[in-house]
Amino acid sequence: MPLTHTRDLFAKAIKGKYAIGAFNVNNMELLQAIVEACEEEKAPLILQISRGAREYANPVYLKKLIEAAISVTNIPIAVHLDHGDTFDLCKQCVDEGFTSVMIDGSNLPFDKNVELTKRVVDYAHKHNAVVEAELGQLVGAQFDSGDKGGAYSKSGVYTDPDEAVQFVKLTGADSLAVAIGNSHGAYKFKGSQHLDLDRLLAIKNALKDAGLGDYPLVLHGASSVPQELVDDINKYGGKLGSDTSGVPESDLEVARRNGVAKINIDTDLRLAMTAGIRKALAEKPEQFDPRKYLGPARARVKELVRHKLRRVVCCAGHAFD
Ligand code: G3H
Ligand code: 13P
Ligand code: ZN
Repeated sequence: MPLTHTRDLFAKAIKGKYAIGAFNVNNMELLQAIVEACEEEKAPLILQISRGAREYANPVYLKKLIEAAISVTNIPIAVHLDHGDTFDLCKQCVDEGFTSVMIDGSNLPFDKNVELTKRVVDYAHKHNAVVEAELGQLVGAQFDSGDKGGAYSKSGVYTDPDEAVQFVKLTGADSLAVAIGNSHGAYKFKGSQHLDLDRLLAIKNALKDAGLGDYPLVLHGASSVPQELVDDINKYGGKLGSDTSGVPESDLEVARRNGVAKINIDTDLRLAMTAGIRKALAEKPEQFDPRKYLGPARARVKELVRHKLRRVVCCAGHAFD
């Protein structure tokens, strides 16, 4: 099956009142776990690749791995650039055949974000790809904040509903990532904080009232940081802080019912992989065959993804809608 467009996936998801899981991939085991879980759950899939993933795995390897995945399954798969930070990177991905790119201009002033996003939209639309943009700033690392640059926001800037309308109209972006208290990583909230779901509803309604219909919103930083994964990592030699926290699944359910069509998950995959590797190595310290610890880790990621598809994103059974 050829690559699918997120535009088609979102239209069906909004109609069917579910969301699509967007899972980050960096290597073969993660990809296999995600694709097998989606295949078994008959779920549509967005595979997303960050700039860091391209640098780690080499874009050609990732492309060939995804081609392999597509050839062994018939579920709909879209390939998306996660947190593209320049026009050139977005262009490169569109030219390579990605069906969707994110241009993340959220660290720029409004006008500059509009300008950059519109430039990417104009190019992508001419080449049969769609664009996710972002308005507002997530707390923490917005994209690779290492020595290659990137943005880091200490306080975060929540998305303003009226600005969101203006932004979508000016840029023609196909979906919008919002900042409603969400953040990346394994340390999202202090105490019992929640997403600002009232703001999410206000954004959704403002877009609708402005004639933009059921416009697809995107939730970054949607990992729930399951305690059992954190516990296993620490039990088998890891050192995660005692203040790990993620988005409660109940918040994600409300988000899904209020306009969020794409739910981004990376951290939970990393935790599952790490928990699986640590446990396998700790239980059989004599092992040195990577298959003996990457295999169980891959199984753990698959189990996690199946749970997300069934209970969180709720797109299980919707591959062929
Ligand atoms: O939102 C960021 C994603 O989790 C990707 O992270 O840039 O470390 O690959 P990365
Ligand atoms: P998490 O860190 O919560 O998994 O978010 C991932 C993400 O937003 C990728 O763009
Ligand atoms: Zn993100």
